Amino acid sequence: MSETPLVGLDGLTVRFGRPRRPWRPNGSVTTAVDGVDLRVERGETLALVGESGSGKTTLARCVAGLIGDYSGTFRFDGEPVGARSRRRPELRRSIQMVFQDPRSSLNPRMTVGRIVAEGWEAHPSAAPADEKAALAELLDQVGLDETLAGRRPGELSGGQCQRVSIARALALRPRLLVCDEAVSALDVSVQAQILRLLIDLRGAYDLTILFITHDLGVVRQIADRVAVMRRGEIVETGATAALYAEPAHPYTRELLDAALDIESEAAN
Ligand SMILES: Nc1ncnc2c1ncn2[C@@H]1O[C@H](COP(=O)(O)OP(=O)(O)OP(=O)(O)O)[C@@H](O)[C@H]1O
Ligand SMILES: [Mg+2]
Repeated sequence: MSETPLVGLDGLTVRFGRPRRPWRPNGSVTTAVDGVDLRVERGETLALVGESGSGKTTLARCVAGLIGDYSGTFRFDGEPVGARSRRRPELRRSIQMVFQDPRSSLNPRMTVGRIVAEGWEAHPSAAPADEKAALAELLDQVGLDETLAGRRPGELSGGQCQRVSIARALALRPRLLVCDEAVSALDVSVQAQILRLLIDLRGAYDLTILFITHDLGVVRQIADRVAVMRRGEIVETGATAALYAEPAHPYTRELLDAALDIESEAAN
């Protein structure tokens, strides 16, 4: 028997809008995620790729518990889970998310130290005995100087803000890190640094990562496996190298060709 995956989605479906009814002729519904079956194994980094509007963020938000209204099942380590409000604190702690825009995802009025340590109030089980020492260690691990603890997000660069977001997530010792376009808003050189950081931390923290991106260049650097999403459905999954070498689905081929065009334009 195969081992239980950390994340198991079966027929996950998310619809937005209001259905058309005789009394509501202008109703309309978007099926953002359409019957997705997906596994993420323990310790693996799975990239979810697809063009804009394909449903990646919606799927990520479901997993992170930010969307409660879905059908199908989501099992975490074998246990069926519901929306965030209905999740046990232990489960909430176990799944953390890093968002695309490092600035708007951090409270501008709070210091870096408060931002990183805030989760310990809601999750005392994850709170270290010596918070000050733990904070210094976390900042060090994400490559930030301890003296930045007193600064506010507005005084930091985009890359530094993203490091703070990562430290905030790690403070709770998550088992799954969901990164939604976590490097897309950064310059290419900063992107590479943050990817390197995630790769290092994944080992140190024994993380499983669901890494969402529309950038196939980034995928190759970080993912063990790739799932390709199109119009709410997963059209192909495969080991990263195999999928790049021999994409099975025409849509995956299109995505790869488009990425190659961008790379060669950048080189010229
Ligand atoms: N809160 C919402 N209300 C209504 N429709 C939504 C909502 N969120 C997403 N959608 C729709 O669901 C579909 C999937 O959107 P989603 O944001 O998940 O795509 P995405 O793959 O993350 O795209 P991008 O690469 O641009 O971030 C789109 O058609 C979008 O318009
Ligand atoms: Mg998105």
